[in-house]
Amino acid sequence: MSHFILDCDPGHDDAVAMLFAAKHLSLSGITTVFGNTNVDNTTKNALALIDAAGIEVPVAQGAAGPLSGTLESGESVHGKSGLDGANLPQGHQQSVTESGAEFLISAARKESDLVIIAIAPLTNLALALKQAPDIAQKIQEISIMGGSTGVGNVTPVAEFNIFADPEAAAIVFSSGIPIRMAGLNITSKFGINASQVAALRASSALLPREIGGALDYYLTRQHSIYGRTHAPIHDVCAVIPYTHPDLIQYESMHVEVEYQGDITRGQTVCDQRGIMSDDGLSPPKFKNARVAISARGETISNLAIESLLSYT
Ligand code: RIB
Ligand code: CA
Repeated sequence: MSHFILDCDPGHDDAVAMLFAAKHLSLSGITTVFGNTNVDNTTKNALALIDAAGIEVPVAQGAAGPLSGTLESGESVHGKSGLDGANLPQGHQQSVTESGAEFLISAARKESDLVIIAIAPLTNLALALKQAPDIAQKIQEISIMGGSTGVGNVTPVAEFNIFADPEAAAIVFSSGIPIRMAGLNITSKFGINASQVAALRASSALLPREIGGALDYYLTRQHSIYGRTHAPIHDVCAVIPYTHPDLIQYESMHVEVEYQGDITRGQTVCDQRGIMSDDGLSPPKFKNARVAISARGETISNLAIESLLSYT
């Protein structure tokens, strides 16, 4: 039975992923990081969410910024708090004293079957790997929401979680740890719609109602920025392979992260045709990742709503 740690930046879709994961998996811990908002807010949001959900799980606050480069934020989409639209009571649990990276290192050394579900910039994981290279042989798998086999959402080719810390992503993708990657090519195609938001808001229970308020805000932002009629629940796609494995299909391929390009920084270069090799003559590069290529989006969205409504 695997143990799971969620590395996140709540964040509206992180909140959906966290509450969905808590319903279906046994979470050994949550580590937070900067991304959708600053790390103090992502940690505050994580503590408020687990409290409202009645979940007892250690939360370790992680990195406040990337290994290098400028500090990116998703507040234009998620609001100043990172979870605008929700009015949750302050969580009474405190975060643990260990940093996110230290928490990941000790968990990897303690658990023999650790899976890390990473749905935010990969800084915590990269710091952990730099500080304790031995954990690369101990972590069973890393399931990432991030990257894309096609277009980006921050630049034409870069997705936010990778763009926010490309050096960290390059360290993780080259670590040798088995990677699952759910990128925008599948995650942006489906999500929560207005009637599902209304069902949540109509709940008499605090958590579904407040998550409904949050998703109402998020859907409005998605509509005004991208003209969407759905609110993508990107992050839950990194949880699905462990709860409903038939809902997302993957292909193994070599993936590298571009972090030196002026206009391509943050791109996940996915070798779908297996043509990358070190010198053009030697065999194709090692297939370090299983990359999501299709998903049953409507089923995933309905399962997510079902789990949110069950927090009565
Ligand atoms: O690009 C989507 C990703 O960026 C998601 O993880 C979302 O929460 C934001 O962090
Ligand atoms: Ca996220």
